[in-house]
Amino acid sequence: MPQVSRIANQRPAWLDDNTKSVMDRAIAREQSLSRLLMTYIVTGLVFMLLPGTFLGVWNLIKISSREAAESISPAWIQAHGHAQLFGWVGTFILGIGFYSIPKLRKLKPFALWSAWLTWALWVIGVTVRWFANIYPWHWRIALPLSAAFELAAFLIFFQAVASHRPSSGSAKPFEPWIFVVITATLGLLASLLLNLGASFQLALNASSPAFPHLFDQRYLIVSTWGFIVPMVWGFSARWLPVFMGLRPLRKSFLLVALGSNTAGVILGFLEHFFAAGILLLAGAATAVAAIRFFEPAVKPAKIINVHRSFPVFIRMAYGWLLIAAAIGIWAARAGEAPGIWGASRHALTVGFIAAMIFCVGQRTLPSFCGMRVLWSPRLMLVMLVLLMTGCTLRVASEMLAYQDYAKWAWNILPVSAFIELTAVALFAINLIATFARPPVVAPSPLTMTTE
Ligand code: HEM
Repeated sequence: MPQVSRIANQRPAWLDDNTKSVMDRAIAREQSLSRLLMTYIVTGLVFMLLPGTFLGVWNLIKISSREAAESISPAWIQAHGHAQLFGWVGTFILGIGFYSIPKLRKLKPFALWSAWLTWALWVIGVTVRWFANIYPWHWRIALPLSAAFELAAFLIFFQAVASHRPSSGSAKPFEPWIFVVITATLGLLASLLLNLGASFQLALNASSPAFPHLFDQRYLIVSTWGFIVPMVWGFSARWLPVFMGLRPLRKSFLLVALGSNTAGVILGFLEHFFAAGILLLAGAATAVAAIRFFEPAVKPAKIINVHRSFPVFIRMAYGWLLIAAAIGIWAARAGEAPGIWGASRHALTVGFIAAMIFCVGQRTLPSFCGMRVLWSPRLMLVMLVLLMTGCTLRVASEMLAYQDYAKWAWNILPVSAFIELTAVALFAINLIATFARPPVVAPSPLTMTTE
């Protein structure tokens, strides 16, 4: 452990041996946690790039060249969606959860092997799922097996970060953001259980590994609005008032937003799409009011080491959340309207989820991953501008093209796909180049922060 010995040489000479050895153990653990988190993040980036975005671009180019939304296999579309939601976003969330939740809640450290086991099971599960959808070779075994691996990984994660006693005295009292994160975690559990049940059902009774269309719509509401959206709200409520210098969080509003969102997810799963849409929009608007994104800031934003436009893009991402919910209501009114459903979904996944990960990820991950500094804040700006441009073109032209409102919009879709692909690739480059840099300060429990 060369870094520990380097730090050991810098310790004040007056420390007694016992304190030195406690410090060394804490430093070594911090370094192991950073390595673990970096592994999760790089794995998430790989899923994001190839099985996720590259396949999404491929699908979109085929759809556009045939000018027909239903012209490609649903299994390929679902392979892309699963790789993005679980392979990319899910892997990031598990890694960040392992790294930050025990620290933020001052819980006893968990055994590191459980985090590595979770990683291995999760990666196998998501990879096998992707291959089972793309090459349906022995899919009747592969599909349920992949779902079982993903669920097993989640259960180990949950056991590790949720059931450890406080390290001293009592854990911090539950703050509202913790309720939001717990609800999101239950949303992940519900998604994985539905995935497992549906996979067994398909393996026994169906002729293809793709979920039936209506079930897929309901399942996606649970895995996006029920899992990822509240997870982003929870961490937004924890970090963004500080990062953006916002007025204090309106805690009761956040809980109302969570209640409305959860009710919307349940109604959506029960196929009451219109009522669900109203509740999801009300929840999103209340969450925005709770975190007070659009009220004047009271302190300067903490934008050191990221591009100074960071607060602008966070606000734009929350704007996309509201747009996604509003288009969702329109989609529910329109019924079978793939262009409107698809536009709502990508307003949410690209405009909100990807943009939030790009912003908050580049703000927090470099320091979590061993006190590093983001390689290029300017590249961060470029990728966010590209992401927002690609998303705007995609959402608008998907509605126009798929719904037959304007034929020329088919030509815009591939352009939007390449712009988004470039943004995503630049995000991966910026993070990997950041991880390749040496730490600015040696990682130590005294310098590490989850703020
Ligand atoms: C370059 C960026 C992307 C492209 C070109 C792309 C392309 C596509 C295409 C063509 C579809 C088929 C349905 C439709 O046409 O609307 C689709 C569905 C989907 N995409 Fe994307 N996508 C991109 C980014 C993302 C991201 C970042 C996420 C999530 C974080 C995501 C999640 C999904 C989901 C969940 C579905 C629905 C899958 C299903 O029906 O089960 N996509 N995407």
